[in-house]
Amino acid sequence: MCNSPSAESSETMSFIDFYKKMKRFRLFEPSIGILGLTVCVIFCFFLLDYRSVRKGLRFPSQSERLLWLRIDGENGNFSTKKIDFLSGECDVFYGEWVWDESYPLYQSKDCRFLDEGFRCSENGRPDFFYTKWRWQPRDCNLPRFDAKIMLEKLRNKRVVFAGDSIGRNQWESLLCMLSSAVSNKDSIYEVNGNPITKHKGFLVFKFTDYNCTVEYYRAPFLVLQSRPPANVPPQIRTTLKLDQMDWMSSKWKDADMLIFNTGHWWNYEKTIRGGCYFQEGSNVTDMKVDTAYQKSLETVFKWIHHEVNTTKTQVFFRTYAPVHFRGGDWRSGGTCHLETLPELGSSLVPSHTWSKYSIFARAIESYSNTSYLRSFDLLNITYMTSRRKDGHSSLYYLGRAVGPASLHRQDCSHWCLPGVPDAWNELLYALVLKREASRRLNSSSFHAQV
Ligand SMILES: *[C@@H]1O[C@H](CO)[C@@H](O)[C@H](O)[C@H]1NC(C)=O
Ligand SMILES: *[C@@H]1O[C@H](CO)[C@@H](O)[C@H](O)[C@H]1NC(C)=O
Ligand SMILES: *[C@@H]1O[C@H](CO)[C@@H](O)[C@H](O)[C@H]1NC(C)=O
Ligand SMILES: *[C@@H]1O[C@H](CO)[C@@H](O)[C@H](O)[C@H]1NC(C)=O
Ligand SMILES: *[C@@H]1O[C@H](CO)[C@@H](O)[C@H](O)[C@H]1NC(C)=O
Ligand SMILES: *[C@@H]1O[C@H](CO)[C@@H](O)[C@H](O)[C@H]1NC(C)=O
Ligand SMILES: *[C@@H]1O[C@H](CO)[C@@H](O)[C@H](O)[C@H]1NC(C)=O
Repeated sequence: MCNSPSAESSETMSFIDFYKKMKRFRLFEPSIGILGLTVCVIFCFFLLDYRSVRKGLRFPSQSERLLWLRIDGENGNFSTKKIDFLSGECDVFYGEWVWDESYPLYQSKDCRFLDEGFRCSENGRPDFFYTKWRWQPRDCNLPRFDAKIMLEKLRNKRVVFAGDSIGRNQWESLLCMLSSAVSNKDSIYEVNGNPITKHKGFLVFKFTDYNCTVEYYRAPFLVLQSRPPANVPPQIRTTLKLDQMDWMSSKWKDADMLIFNTGHWWNYEKTIRGGCYFQEGSNVTDMKVDTAYQKSLETVFKWIHHEVNTTKTQVFFRTYAPVHFRGGDWRSGGTCHLETLPELGSSLVPSHTWSKYSIFARAIESYSNTSYLRSFDLLNITYMTSRRKDGHSSLYYLGRAVGPASLHRQDCSHWCLPGVPDAWNELLYALVLKREASRRLNSSSFHAQV
């Protein structure tokens, strides 16, 4: 397998390694913690001011603070003429993050289906602001996530996530969001008895009361990775078959809901450098990683179109989730641990993010004249997520017993939970309700015609 250092390898960093690093940095930790807290308190006041001033200008007679809360609260529909998402056309992926006291939707300590790596607050993250933001589309309001309603929709159904560990991040978020509505937590279990810490293969969680399963398949490339053909040079240890789906894909296509993602592994370090080359037919080629990535996406689009019964299966493709390393990347000491607020002005997205996103956009574009794109929905979260530099695990992915990581081993790829992936799942929920509403509409207009 292509097992070069990865976003995931940070989760499995050895303790010895960690203690060595920790010794060197221990002296500085407290002062940085205090600095972080100060910065965040200052910013928070600035934020309150900024928001209340902005809204206050429009409604000068009201108490600014209260007004702000009401605007952002559920009942605040007097401020703008937002349409109901379910009845109108609206780009739900364009909008802003708003502070919402009613968030988060769950607490990590109440959710047993979470890897340690995502339990930031339990692992020592001092600020909790990152749990308090709700995504607000510009032109419409989203339905509030209701776990009971979602579970009813999923009765007797299978939900499948296939992709890399960021997809796993989202899958675990959904497990927590759904299980918050189930009082007997023992009624939710992994069907093969595997622990949540198993990171290879797949995991299938069953919600007994609803006869529904929520599954995760680890497939960071989505296409098939296996042995190269005979007689290739020895540095070619494995190949990615760009024209074939991952061998687990037979388990995906009968799902009722299927959520793909891929992107973070399509780079030189995680492929060629580890002896993992690209293959088309029986040819092993030295094509660029970006080209290979695009070809693999096209393979997935074709597979969805030809292999999946999209009347039964609602397919989503989640777009690239930005990373926010500052002053380096995941190998070279990039950081994000001092970020405590979302980007509230215009977003400066790391160029790496846009290059991954634009390959995806190009693949979409090249299929725009075909019916392929009607086979699935985009979960186009790149833009909204690019503004959440505050949401990453940063130093807090090593577990409670170990404590914060060393400053130059930060995780600015994965997300704290509760946190940003919850918002992706709220959009998923909205799109599921929308599909149902439009189906109802279609069948009633059909009956009306008859
Ligand atoms: C929200 O809008 C609905 C319909 O437009 C209206 O009936 C309701 O009174 C409004 N609620 C508030 C709090 O303004
Ligand atoms: C994704 O959403 C962003 C923000 O609304 C938008 O600019 C972009 O065009 C969308 N991409 C696709 C492929 O729909
Ligand atoms: C449970 O759901 C599966 C589909 O996921 C279905 O085949 C089976 O009949 C359901 N069992 C019951 C008891 O409804
Ligand atoms: C493999 O290479 C041969 C010779 O260059 C070419 O004719 C053929 O089209 C290639 N096959 C694929 C699937 O790219
Ligand atoms: C596709 O799924 C729908 C809904 O479950 C079903 O009615 C239909 O027969 C299926 N089509 C095929 C070709 O299997
Ligand atoms: C799609 O079709 C339009 C008009 O039929 C054409 O102008 C455009 O170039 C086509 N785009 C692609 C990517 O084929
Ligand atoms: C409902 O009908 C509209 C227009 O006829 C169509 O574009 C849409 O895809 C249909 N939706 C579903 C879920 O079948």
